[in-house]
Amino acid sequence: MLVLGLESSCDDCSAAVVRDEGQGPALLAMTRKSQDDLHGPYGGVVPELAAREHLLQLRGVIAGALAQAGVTLAGIDRIAVTQGPGLVGSLLSTFSASKAMAWREGIPWVGVHHLLGHLNAARFSAPDLPFPALALLVSGGHTHLYLAQDWTHLELLQKTRDDAAGEAFDKTARMLNLGYPGGPIVDTCARSASRAGAPFTPPKFRDGKASWSFSGLKTAVKMRIQAEPGLESAGAQDPRVQALCRSLQETVAAWLMKPVAAFRDETGARSLVVSGGVACNSELRAQARLTADRLGLTLAIPEPRFCTDNGAMIASAGALLEPPRDPWSLNADANLPLVFS
Ligand code: KG4
Ligand code: ZN
Repeated sequence: MLVLGLESSCDDCSAAVVRDEGQGPALLAMTRKSQDDLHGPYGGVVPELAAREHLLQLRGVIAGALAQAGVTLAGIDRIAVTQGPGLVGSLLSTFSASKAMAWREGIPWVGVHHLLGHLNAARFSAPDLPFPALALLVSGGHTHLYLAQDWTHLELLQKTRDDAAGEAFDKTARMLNLGYPGGPIVDTCARSASRAGAPFTPPKFRDGKASWSFSGLKTAVKMRIQAEPGLESAGAQDPRVQALCRSLQETVAAWLMKPVAAFRDETGARSLVVSGGVACNSELRAQARLTADRLGLTLAIPEPRFCTDNGAMIASAGALLEPPRDPWSLNADANLPLVFS
């Protein structure tokens, strides 16, 4: 089966052609149009600009993926598109366009939950993953730990009480005037550090659990920057900036890994999946490897190009879903819940 996967839930517009004959997905082609330059001057995604840009880019992104794969729409067996959650304008542009395309060409069409897509990014490198699996899905909008019973069923175990982990990276880069998006920049900066700065104090919760909260971390970073004259404009080459970035990412990675052991014991999970944009982070990848080895879990972290939002993960998930009987009544949903039949 050849699946065309489309993802435009936020600021990237991506299409991929994936072959799946039941042994796991194989990527034939992927295109992605980043909007980093468009949103960079604002230090964050401007929803209206993102939606408009998707409308302009979508045709070229799809045509590019089909051409790279050497197929036409007539050769596509299924179209899979992100249905939600995400920015409503961004979602609607591609969801509606793909619905029209599928209707005109008579191609079966499925809407995919964005987080199911992030989980299924791991299927490219680990199609035989042992289940149940703990799935840490961590991005600019999500910091969620799920129990996956298989590739299409997720049950929420824990999520951040406030900010997402990706925001800690993006906002730190913004406070240090390092550029946008912050995650990759902070990561590069941290890897140049000869030492880490002082660690950050983890939040404490009344129930004593290893829950997640990242808004206090943002404030702690701000206070450190304010305490060092000139730090906010010192730039990525400054050893103090590098040390701060390293402390930040060591802290985020350690906090994210903290609840894994208890949830492994509670659920009997056999694997750990880490996916979403923040899963590109070098320190998180290293700490996840150590954690998985220590706990005897099979680890699956997608290659970085499959971790950030991309069409391939949507195709990978879409290949496993049953196309709905009445697809034309479906609509994009900015707050789409995870509901499984
Ligand atoms: O999954 P994604 O592409 O989009 C959302 O669904 O949000 O994730 C984007 C997030 C941003 O916050 C970005 O800064 C972060 O992933 N990110 C990283 C790295 N690469 C991307 N965070 C830390 N280290 C990285 N190397
Ligand atoms: Zn995402």
